Amino acid sequence: MSELTPDLLRELVAEARLAPSVHNIQPTRWRLALVDDVSVRAPVADPAGHDVLVSHGAALEGMSLALNRRGLAITGMTTIEQPLSPQFTALCSFAVRQGVAPDPLAGHVARRMSWPGKFAASPDDAAALAQLAAARDDVICIGDRQAIAEIADWADQAEFSFVRDDDYRQELLAWMRLSPSHPHYLQDGLNRDALAMNAVEASAARFVLGGLFRPLDRLGIAASLLADSAKTASASAIVLFCRPVGEDPLTTGRHFYRIWLEIDRAGFAACPISALSDHPDFNDRLRKLGKVGGDLRLVNVFRVGRPPKPLKPRHFRLPVDRLIV
Ligand SMILES: Cc1cc2nc3c(=O)[nH]c(=O)nc-3n(C[C@H](O)[C@H](O)[C@H](O)COP(=O)(O)O)c2cc1C
Repeated sequence: MSELTPDLLRELVAEARLAPSVHNIQPTRWRLALVDDVSVRAPVADPAGHDVLVSHGAALEGMSLALNRRGLAITGMTTIEQPLSPQFTALCSFAVRQGVAPDPLAGHVARRMSWPGKFAASPDDAAALAQLAAARDDVICIGDRQAIAEIADWADQAEFSFVRDDDYRQELLAWMRLSPSHPHYLQDGLNRDALAMNAVEASAARFVLGGLFRPLDRLGIAASLLADSAKTASASAIVLFCRPVGEDPLTTGRHFYRIWLEIDRAGFAACPISALSDHPDFNDRLRKLGKVGGDLRLVNVFRVGRPPKPLKPRHFRLPVDRLIV
């Protein structure tokens, strides 16, 4: 067994925090356990708290990869769910052991990022992505152009049905940092750089998702102003991420992060489209289209492709000191 010193824990957390989280809310805290900050939630977008648990799972995988880079591994993991204070609950404790084979995905942690923009046309990519999917039994890859165009349309319909809810828009705006003067701009949530928006687009988004939404919706133009279908339709493939029904969401989250790192390793970029998996009707349509077996849950959907230019990795994360409690 190896000793986890305070300095080593800081180093590990600095890397584990690069894991993706829903809306970049970063609900995970650390001590010699994975700790849930129960004050960090997106209750409208994620009413069941499933995405928070998937985000914790991704952070746990991030910790495992950070340890791996130092020849260490998580051992003796125990699920505890132990309240520490009104704000913090320890979810699982673990120890650390020495001696582990290098994980080929560990080198991709610092490079992986969400790519929210359009993809470059690249006709041969579907085959490469199908190969990636063939290596995993939890991934289904849809590369047919017509099917992708249809899914792009479904994604807009699904997203818009959520956006119509006042509370959803309010929560989304609360996690958006549309001006660099926002005090958390570089730390959490969805900022202009992460959303690939310029200043004009960001101001427009503030109005369209804010006070102007209802009048624009009455005029029938809100949906087209928020449409993302051109981006989704530009993807080389739509990837369905499916995990066993009833699986522990922390395990699901670990695999969610690993498949995203696999996508990066194959030279692609990705962006999740949670609205498609969260909306029961579109989830059902996608299950049928992808022939997802009854023993699997369609957990999330990625659009995947080649970014138009090499991505400069950027990460907007809370300082390490805030993450160790
Ligand atoms: C469970 C989960 C669901 C997500 N859903 C979406 C989504 O629907 N749309 C989106 O653009 N990003 C989605 N993301 C990506 C996060 O917004 C992103 O990981 C976070 O902002 C951190 O940015 P990074 O991935 O560039 O490091 C999701 C991430 C997780 C973990």
